[in-house]
Amino acid sequence: MPESISTPLTPSGELSPEAFQTYLNASLRALQDEIEKFDEVVPGEQAAASFEELRQRWGGRKTGVVTQISHLVKQAPTEHKRAFGISFNEFKDIVSHLLDGLQTRIQDASTFRRVLDGLDISLPGIARTPGIAHPLLTTMERIVEVFHHLGYSTELGPQVESDFYNFEALNFPENHPARDTQDTLQIAGQEAKPSRDRLLLRTHTSPVQIRTMVAQDPPLRIVIPGKVHRNEAADATHSPTFHQVEGLCVGPDITFSDLKGTLDHAMRALFGSGVKTRFFPSFFPFTEPSADVQISCIFCGGSGCRKCKHSGWIELLGCGMVDPAVFQAVAGERRRLGLDDAPYDPARVSGFAFGMGVERIAMILHGVSDIGTFYSGDMRFLEQFA
Ligand code: PHE
Repeated sequence: MPESISTPLTPSGELSPEAFQTYLNASLRALQDEIEKFDEVVPGEQAAASFEELRQRWGGRKTGVVTQISHLVKQAPTEHKRAFGISFNEFKDIVSHLLDGLQTRIQDASTFRRVLDGLDISLPGIARTPGIAHPLLTTMERIVEVFHHLGYSTELGPQVESDFYNFEALNFPENHPARDTQDTLQIAGQEAKPSRDRLLLRTHTSPVQIRTMVAQDPPLRIVIPGKVHRNEAADATHSPTFHQVEGLCVGPDITFSDLKGTLDHAMRALFGSGVKTRFFPSFFPFTEPSADVQISCIFCGGSGCRKCKHSGWIELLGCGMVDPAVFQAVAGERRRLGLDDAPYDPARVSGFAFGMGVERIAMILHGVSDIGTFYSGDMRFLEQFA
């Protein structure tokens, strides 16, 4: 019996149910105090031994506190036997619950201790840093975002493309020298197929213009981000696999002024409001007229520096008005598929298209001089974009 607990008898010497309950409560508090002391005990054999001693003292069959108290129940006056029994059973349950809880705690702690003992906490930990988006991806997203604000939506297409979408429908006839400008990686074993169905790795994102026009009626405003491939040797500014963002706007009265205004806005949104654009005559089979767009050098402001080869201008993208031959190819493909060809009657629609290289823009935005660093996976380079 814990010494700190006084007798269950009332001052007048009787054994009442209330006095008994008060006595049980005090006993439980005494047990809780003892259990709390284990908070300071280091897990291990010593703790297990102390626990065993505590468990014997309280739960021991012959002389344990619980057994001693059970004798009191037997001495209770007959009319109070039932009340004493209920209180005692509750008490017994709580005691065994408390002792079981302490036992689990001690066992868990010593298991943990064993694990800790085998652990060198002075070793450096494994730091798992959260990943970041690759700079090419963020650049691509930045470009796309500018056009989303102008009401464009995103379209995607396959990297393994057919000759029809990559070339023919874009007005690159078979065996025409225009195809030489985009040295192509062909998929092997396609010779048996009709030439329009032969597969290749797309050399530009322009085939998605055709795919979208075949599937959707005008008006259209789309941006096409994606990966493209050419049979080219890698050097500081070229990579056989690279990325483009393409744009296409088709409607009843789209003019070259719309093209100029759109790209002028986009360049200022990307490179800063002080940037000027200028358009140079160029050639693409699928646009007529075609232009190359240059921006005033963002490094020297146009006065000439090493970056712009002292010209004050940086060439950034290709563009032009959609060639009527492209609309004709789209109308033809729609007829072949049993779709309405009228919406792409070249007499009724016009449009413009543009395409830009993501790597080139990322290199300018971040001052990167070798395109290869984007693909190297070198953490010292990539971490700068975190
Ligand atoms: N597809 C062309 C290229 O890869 C770029 C371009 C796109 C030019 C759209 C004009 C219009 O070179």
